[in-house]
Amino acid sequence: MDIDVIREHTKGCRDKIFLNSAGSSLVPQRVTDKMTAYLQMEALEGGYALANQYTAELDQLYVQAALLLNCTAENIAFVTSATDAFARAITAVDFKEGDLILTTDDDYISNQLAFLSLKQRFGIRIIRAHSLPNGDLDLEQFEKLVDQQRPKLVAITYMPTNSGLVQPVVEVGRICKKFDVLYLLDACQAAGQRVVDVQEIGCDFLTVTGRKFLRGPRGTGLLYVSDKVLAAGLVPLIFDMQGAEWTADDAYTLAKTAKRFEFWESSIAGKLGLAESLKYINEIGILHIEEYNIKLITQFREQLKSVTGLTMHDQGSRLSNILTFTTENRSLSDTAQRLKDHHVYFSMSFRDFARIDFNRKNLDAVIRFSPHYFNTVEELEKIIDILNY
Ligand SMILES: Cc1ncc(COP(=O)(O)O)c(C=O)c1O
Repeated sequence: MDIDVIREHTKGCRDKIFLNSAGSSLVPQRVTDKMTAYLQMEALEGGYALANQYTAELDQLYVQAALLLNCTAENIAFVTSATDAFARAITAVDFKEGDLILTTDDDYISNQLAFLSLKQRFGIRIIRAHSLPNGDLDLEQFEKLVDQQRPKLVAITYMPTNSGLVQPVVEVGRICKKFDVLYLLDACQAAGQRVVDVQEIGCDFLTVTGRKFLRGPRGTGLLYVSDKVLAAGLVPLIFDMQGAEWTADDAYTLAKTAKRFEFWESSIAGKLGLAESLKYINEIGILHIEEYNIKLITQFREQLKSVTGLTMHDQGSRLSNILTFTTENRSLSDTAQRLKDHHVYFSMSFRDFARIDFNRKNLDAVIRFSPHYFNTVEELEKIIDILNY
């Protein structure tokens, strides 16, 4: 992995220290070039005629996504965001009153809202499995819950948006397989950051967004649908002519592949852009990216320990490239302003984004850094200097 070349491909990293890939990352230049060239042509040709000339390139979206996630192109649906993917997956489950969703304290805000909506409309139950004092999911309790309560769906978030926690997704997959329970995994922050192997995990659905660690365009996402789900005939509550063929006045035939989870209309430029981002990652190799990211964040966490008054709040035995902290010797807004003054890009997370986690940690807000493989050790050393004042 040649970081200098990668940074040359990443125009946005030249005049700032960009530490917000967990928000919306910097796309490689060739992604922007691909999309703008297409949009220029679309203005001349119209949307339909041009798209027809691009079928082979558009197919690459599925091929490249399958390569990254270790499945086949038939298991991939293109959607507009991770939440869109999540909604389509969850409406494929035929919930009845009293059915249970087993999740965790650390699931993403919008997923928690989706569960609450299902509770309100269908009277489903929600159980949130607890964590151990070190932040790790209590797998023993989790397995007991699955065994005793037989949830209709297990839904967990691989890496939360608001802390560096990494959930034991393979172990959860093993439990779901043992008790034959549907498993929906939110891999929004994991894809592109670490190796995500759907065969190893054994999930039934996996949701991903384009703009974060995949470094794709906004308004794009992916849904992985397992062969098991496809064979069982699961389908989102509302599908359209992309997902099914209208075969008689009162009959339809579902698409055989994960396309049954897509809508017909989509941003073709966005799809081409995401395909290009995936190709870029696959060319570098996700294993190399993971290795670099782990080295980068481990060193950064170690160095941040030397900053007086700074407390990191990430818990768990494995940590991601999402790092959260507060500063005790000055207000968080002062620290945030100082970072901005030095052209550091980052995010903040607030109590409302992660009520359970932040209530447990007694936090109102944290600063979140999320370095990715275009960042360098030197940049992160500069952050230490900026914070040590
Ligand atoms: C863990 C997690 N899941 C889901 C989402 C939602 O992604 P999107 O905004 O693409 O729907 C996010 C966004 O921050 C996230 O961090």
